[in-house]
Amino acid sequence: MAKVQLIRIKKSFGGKTVLNDVNLTINEGEFVALLGPSGSGKTTLLHGIAGIIPFDEGNIYFDGQLMDFVPIEKRNAVLVDQNILLFPHMTVYENISFGLKIRKIGKKEIKNKVEKFLDMMELYGHENKYPHELSGGQKQRVALARALIVEPKVLLLDEPFSKLDIVLRKSLQEFIREIQRKLNITTILVTHDKEEALSLADRIAVLIEGEIKQYDIPKNIYEKPVSIEVADFFGKTNYFKGKIKNGNFITDIGTFNVNSPDKSKVTLMLRPEQIIICDENESNVKGKIIKRTYLGDKVNYLIVVKGQVIYVSTFTDKNFNVDEDVYFYLDFNKAAYLEED
Ligand SMILES: Nc1ncnc2c1ncn2[C@@H]1O[C@H](COP(=O)(O)OP(=O)(O)OP(=O)(O)O)[C@@H](O)[C@H]1O
Ligand SMILES: [Mg+2]
Repeated sequence: MAKVQLIRIKKSFGGKTVLNDVNLTINEGEFVALLGPSGSGKTTLLHGIAGIIPFDEGNIYFDGQLMDFVPIEKRNAVLVDQNILLFPHMTVYENISFGLKIRKIGKKEIKNKVEKFLDMMELYGHENKYPHELSGGQKQRVALARALIVEPKVLLLDEPFSKLDIVLRKSLQEFIREIQRKLNITTILVTHDKEEALSLADRIAVLIEGEIKQYDIPKNIYEKPVSIEVADFFGKTNYFKGKIKNGNFITDIGTFNVNSPDKSKVTLMLRPEQIIICDENESNVKGKIIKRTYLGDKVNYLIVVKGQVIYVSTFTDKNFNVDEDVYFYLDFNKAAYLEED
């Protein structure tokens, strides 16, 4: 519901820079996933947006309004994190309705809204329990309901699903996304789960060592990372170093057609699932399988080609064995061009 703008944000703790000139704009109603290694400054950034801590430099705007000096309770931004702080002396119903009660909303309206959330969060039957009588997943859902019921302008989620089992996590992810869309709440989700980020977010911001290294739609973050450090962050991948001359990419494992201008030094990246295992007559590379890992929905292979190890992931398993020769097709027109770090 609010456009969030972060401009030249800096933050240090005890002389150590944690956020270094962060610029980020999240459009009204947009769902942004914030990803980055542990200690890269994700929680610090969310805490600053919520108003829990002040930034050292830079400005925060919600809908063009300067928030820097607006206290936490007036920002209309709510934070839900792993540490679920429910009121221990209040029941589930009282916890969820708390925000509406202090806003002096009528009893009947509160009841209607709470019932909707009890239903959505599958908490019916638990409304009269106290927090100590709930499981971790139930507590997390109460915390989410309590945050969402006040229809905040900005929702800040700091790994809220990480302690939940996979089934509950998936259903809560979908639920949050649905309600976020319905209420058009501008949302930032911090997660270590790359699949969660890729599947839920409109855009992903990659924060490494206090700097936003890339901010783009999930497909581009995954397929067209701007640097090796961003590419590596999304798992094993293939790099090919070489040069481009007269429409050919010349690299250690061969020469391949590309529609690109000449470049004396270039690193191209292909993800494991972008490499297609095929018949000999359709292929442009031959290699030998050195490892096969069965993962249920897909099979990963390590293949050696002229001394270079290539990662290949395939959904249609042809039951290749270790030591077997395979043919595959590398399409360097689909590759990402990476800056050298
Ligand atoms: N209050 C504080 N005092 C001193 N240092 C702090 C404080 N809060 C955070 N830091 C430091 O700032 C850095 C970034 O911390 P932050 O919690 O933002 O990381 P994060 O990206 O959320 O990591 P994680 O993925 O592990 O949650 C860390 O080096 C941390 O030790
Ligand atoms: Mg954190």
